[in-house]
Amino acid sequence: MIVMGIESSCDETGVGIVRWNGDGTCELLADEVASSIDQHARFGGVVPEIASRAHLEAIVPAMRRALSVAGVVKPDALAVTIGPELAGALLVGVAAAKAYAAAWDVPFYALNHLGGHVAVDTLEHGPMPPCVALLVSGGHTHLLQVADLGEPIVELGSTVDDAAGEAFDKVARLLGLGYPGGPALDAAAQEGNPAAIAFPRGMTGPRDPRYDFSFSGLKTAVARHVEAAQRQGITPDQLPIPDIAASFQESVADVLTMKAIRAAADVGVDTLVLGGGATANSRIRSLAEERCAAAGITLRVPKPRLCTDNGVMIAALGAHVIAGGATPSELTVATDPGLPVSTSQV
Ligand code: KG4
Ligand code: ZN
Repeated sequence: MIVMGIESSCDETGVGIVRWNGDGTCELLADEVASSIDQHARFGGVVPEIASRAHLEAIVPAMRRALSVAGVVKPDALAVTIGPELAGALLVGVAAAKAYAAAWDVPFYALNHLGGHVAVDTLEHGPMPPCVALLVSGGHTHLLQVADLGEPIVELGSTVDDAAGEAFDKVARLLGLGYPGGPALDAAAQEGNPAAIAFPRGMTGPRDPRYDFSFSGLKTAVARHVEAAQRQGITPDQLPIPDIAASFQESVADVLTMKAIRAAADVGVDTLVLGGGATANSRIRSLAEERCAAAGITLRVPKPRLCTDNGVMIAALGAHVIAGGATPSELTVATDPGLPVSTSQV
């Protein structure tokens, strides 16, 4: 069975093709991604209307390239991200998926984007046991409980304000490091001391929810720290950027990994999967590795290209959903920008 996946929920237009191996794994046949990130850079964040227009230009060429790279005339099934995320952006991928499914007369599956971030890991690391997944990107900070990839996912917690990647981007901007700020902040932090400044650990008090996150207080703490330094006569070019970056990064990595390990222990699984673009962060990775090793948890992290949004993740999820016996979606289903995690297929 060959499954095509289409993804257009944010700023990446992805078309991926996989072959289902029948043993809980897939083989990657094509992975075409066109990103509009450069067009958003001067605004300091993704502009939905620009993303939609970029998807419109990129979708058919990405589709053609994927078919040609995979050497496939048409897939056996077509899966698409139906939500959550940006309404106009989703619409482009979904309209394309419906049109191709109708023209090719192949079954159509309208799926939840978040499950794709977990399913994609099976390409590299084999069948997925019951696990906890931590998704961290510019759009997500979710702690999920996954029993089976073909089944609905349970959300254990999420951010109450900024997404983790968004916090990196905002703090990087504050420190004059550009957009997207995550990679630049990570690089600056390499030279810094993570213990230099004791930034707060959001949502870790005894009365706070066990699995939710908050990064806006941390962002404010960094802003206050910079303002205080400036009041003392320190000019922007004299700010200890590496120490501020490393201390901020340490706080984010500490809270994310602490809560993820706690969740795995609470629900009784021994596998933690990371996903989303911010898993490229060196400290989030190394701290997750350290803490998983100490807790006897197997850590699974897809390679960076598969951690960011792409079509392969939706194809891989589609293959699992189909193998689980799901009925195809109707071609009349509507996109859902607010689709809850618990709805795996519409
Ligand atoms: O998954 P992704 O490519 O796009 C979506 O947000 O959907 O993730 C991008 C996010 C951005 O916020 C970016 O700053 C962050 O991931 N990011 C990082 C790093 N690389 C990317 N954050 C921290 N450290 C990094 N090395
Ligand atoms: Zn995503």
